[in-house]
Amino acid sequence: MHDLHDFDFSAWAAAQGALVEQALTAWVGQGAPAGLGEAMRYAVLDGGKRLRPLLVLAAAQAVQGHAPAALRAACAVELIHAYSLVHDDMPCMDNDVLRRGKPTVHIAFGQAQALLAGDALQAQAFELLTPAGDEVPAAMQAHCCRILAHAAGAQGMAGGQAIDLASVGQPLNEEQLRQMHRLKTGALLQASVLLGAACGTTSAPALAALSTYGEVLGLAFQVVDDVLDVVADAATLGKTPGKDAANDKPTYVALLGLPAAQALAQDLLVQACAALGQSGLPQDDVQALRALAHQVVGRSH
Ligand code: IPE
Ligand code: IPE
Ligand code: MG
Ligand code: MG
Ligand code: MG
Repeated sequence: MHDLHDFDFSAWAAAQGALVEQALTAWVGQGAPAGLGEAMRYAVLDGGKRLRPLLVLAAAQAVQGHAPAALRAACAVELIHAYSLVHDDMPCMDNDVLRRGKPTVHIAFGQAQALLAGDALQAQAFELLTPAGDEVPAAMQAHCCRILAHAAGAQGMAGGQAIDLASVGQPLNEEQLRQMHRLKTGALLQASVLLGAACGTTSAPALAALSTYGEVLGLAFQVVDDVLDVVADAATLGKTPGKDAANDKPTYVALLGLPAAQALAQDLLVQACAALGQSGLPQDDVQALRALAHQVVGRSH
């Protein structure tokens, strides 16, 4: 068995990220009329850490999954994520002007086109999951659609965003805040792991462990997002910092204070790695997932 420290995460992420960029560039917004394709491509291409696609591909590799299905799922979840950002930034939600170091989509293209770009990206995600012909087995297509739809919808991201908007100025307790973060951000991150797993076959205990890893990582991700809003600058972050306090959003920093929020992120990292350790999967096969957990908690943007 290789030493875990031998894993070259940078090389792995560069190679997998290149596959994702190539596929997104080829697929996003093709054939869209009246400037809609431009807005879709602006929202998706040239920016973004591609964390969700990398989680899909890492989970698929952990279960020796179907590679073409995994690449489609990786792009699909990124399209849902990009759509959620376009709408999240609009004046009716967070009213942000900077995203991924560029003006937000509604600033560059107007609100109506931003709304439609989000709508079209969401639809295209499900088109990517359901190619005609026999490239991806039908049952695998259906399973992936089910996972992504659940995570994007009322019991996932969209529901979490509704809680977020309803919670402005409300003092949430830890349980309520955790639930909001689990839905608005955690659901898509956990779904990324489950999508990768759905591209292969897993034992029930391994699937449960991967699911726990995804859930814990999803929460860690939003705790770190809350921390970065306080500690990072716009140039590093690619978005305007300080917006959570300015908008009176409930966050982990507001609830616990900065040091305790940072400590919580570290604790969640330990839990995520422990889930991988207990998965029963060969530890060589979960190295990319383990590295991604460190990346999420250690990131600067
Ligand atoms: C930002 O997500 C929005 C949240 C869900 C908190 P990311 O930090 O993954 O954004 P990109 O994709 O890298 O721009
Ligand atoms: C956004 O959360 C979550 C979704 C887009 C679903 P935030 O509003 O905290 O994300 P940022 O900070 O604008 O990226
Ligand atoms: Mg928001
Ligand atoms: Mg926002
Ligand atoms: Mg935020």
